Amino acid sequence: MQVLGIIGSPRIGGNTEVLVDEVLAGAKEAGASVEQVVLNKLEINPCQACNSCYKTGHCMHKDDMPSLLEKMVQSDVWILGTPIYWWGPTAQFKAFLDRWYHPKHQEFKGKKVIIVIPLGGGHERYARHTVGLLEDVFNYLNIELVETILAPGYNRRGEVGKNTDLLKLARKAGKEAVENQD
Ligand SMILES: Cc1cc2nc3c(=O)[nH]c(=O)nc-3n(C[C@H](O)[C@H](O)[C@H](O)COP(=O)(O)O)c2cc1C
Repeated sequence: MQVLGIIGSPRIGGNTEVLVDEVLAGAKEAGASVEQVVLNKLEINPCQACNSCYKTGHCMHKDDMPSLLEKMVQSDVWILGTPIYWWGPTAQFKAFLDRWYHPKHQEFKGKKVIIVIPLGGGHERYARHTVGLLEDVFNYLNIELVETILAPGYNRRGEVGKNTDLLKLARKAGKEAVENQD
């Protein structure tokens, strides 16, 4: 079992990374191989809507996205993390998501996903557009959303790490995603 954690925050040691790493730790405890990827460290250029991927099978960008798409296809479970920036995901995460346009997304069917979303605002409703956006994408692509971990009220780098209940919930989600895989 392969579990891939994808961090959409540019902040190393930030709240997204703390929580995604905790989910990955739970998955590892349950026997999975885990890998963590930080989008901000990769070159992922915005989609140009040229349809080159449909015409030729190759994106016009020569960047890190084709190998990330392959990694996603090779993984059974994804942990997708992004903080809320202006009621949406980060620009890094949205550029990554737009590149799912490549027909390779046909191989995403049946993948399991846990989403992880920290936000500075004190209420979960500020994440509703991002959660809704991801739910619609997953429905469209037949991807199964197994858990949504929201962390409202956290602004300082990594401060969500003080919330032991949330860390426990994240670890449990990672463990269960692996244990419940058929
Ligand atoms: C550019 C920017 C925009 C933000 N917009 C929002 C927002 O609309 N709503 C909100 O609740 N928090 C917002 N925040 C706060 C972050 O969501 C919050 O600090 C989060 O914990 C950051 O996660 P990280 O530590 O993984 O980077 C914003 C932060 C930045 C830097």
